[in-house]
Amino acid sequence: MACILKRKAIIVLGFVTAFLLLIIARLTNEVSFPLIFSCFGQTSAKWMPFYTQRQPLRTHYGYMNVRTQEPLQLDCDLCAIISNSGQMSEQKVGFEIDQSSCIWRMNNAPTKGYEEDVGKRTTVRVVSHTSVPLLLKNPEYFFKETNSTVYVIWGPFRNMRKDGSGIVYNMLKKTVDSYPGAKIYVTTEQRMSYCDEVFKKETGKDRIQSGSYLSTGWFTLILAMDACYRIHVYGMINDTYCKSEGFRKVPYHYYEPGRDECDEYFLHENAPYGGHRFITEKKVFADWAKRRTITFTHPNWTLS
Ligand SMILES: *[C@@H]1O[C@H](CO)[C@@H](O)[C@H](O)[C@H]1NC(C)=O
Ligand SMILES: *[C@@H]1O[C@H](CO)[C@@H](O)[C@H](O)[C@H]1NC(C)=O
Ligand SMILES: *[C@@H]1O[C@H](CO)[C@@H](O)[C@H](O)[C@H]1NC(C)=O
Repeated sequence: MACILKRKAIIVLGFVTAFLLLIIARLTNEVSFPLIFSCFGQTSAKWMPFYTQRQPLRTHYGYMNVRTQEPLQLDCDLCAIISNSGQMSEQKVGFEIDQSSCIWRMNNAPTKGYEEDVGKRTTVRVVSHTSVPLLLKNPEYFFKETNSTVYVIWGPFRNMRKDGSGIVYNMLKKTVDSYPGAKIYVTTEQRMSYCDEVFKKETGKDRIQSGSYLSTGWFTLILAMDACYRIHVYGMINDTYCKSEGFRKVPYHYYEPGRDECDEYFLHENAPYGGHRFITEKKVFADWAKRRTITFTHPNWTLS
């Protein structure tokens, strides 16, 4: 009798121990230490749970999957962010870009036909709500052929609401119904406010009162700073570029002829309403680059 009891106790204890171990494993798995280890910058220095080789993914609660409503998981060592600027033409850095752990592009920037300059791979594509119709012109390409890409769509609440009256959200919902493999995320309303708050904190200006919109580059850098240990930005000009001597005159986008980049920047910076404050944003980026591991090249920024 005593023997049976003892055996029962051992079995129960075994279960309890296994259960506790499971909980501990689960907890440690959710915890990463990006702040401590970002100083080392190397993947090998990253903390790994002892029982698995899987990298702890970072969870980004400001971005929700349209199909599953789950938050975005993304964790990269070196991120390459490729600007859409005409500066990317004839840079021949495609090979270098493709060596990065994660490659970020914006809106409908193509790779086909521009591989030598901008690379082939796309890990994350950050897209403005106004550019969603451009992707939907070629859904087979964006949401089937390149279905390993994560799409992050930013937009104001009126377009992104989930109650049936958010027109952009509705388009995305239809898209994931047709392409179940597509990984499409939308920014939450709280995350949109957070991005506005960062703008106010960094510039002292209220985004709405100053009559401007944040750019896709702004949303891209904010997410990348949370998801990447190191960032290399290609093809973005700095805040004084358009006033510097002998600057390279290029189209606004590398993939289409059109207005000159600097003309576009001045137009937006001075628009009383509805513009992007590209130049102001670049000043803020330069500040961030001084405090974090962010490099800007093609053209090079010098940061002291
Ligand atoms: C991605 O697309 C390929 C074909 O283009 C398909 O074989 C694969 O199943 C898709 N992945 C998912 C997760 O749907
Ligand atoms: C820009 O920076 C890259 C990488 O740091 C360097 O290889 C290149 O020589 C620089 N280009 C110019 C024009 O300074
Ligand atoms: C900004 O770009 C211009 C033109 O490339 C360059 O001369 C200048 O040194 C850059 N300034 C900073 C702070 O990076």
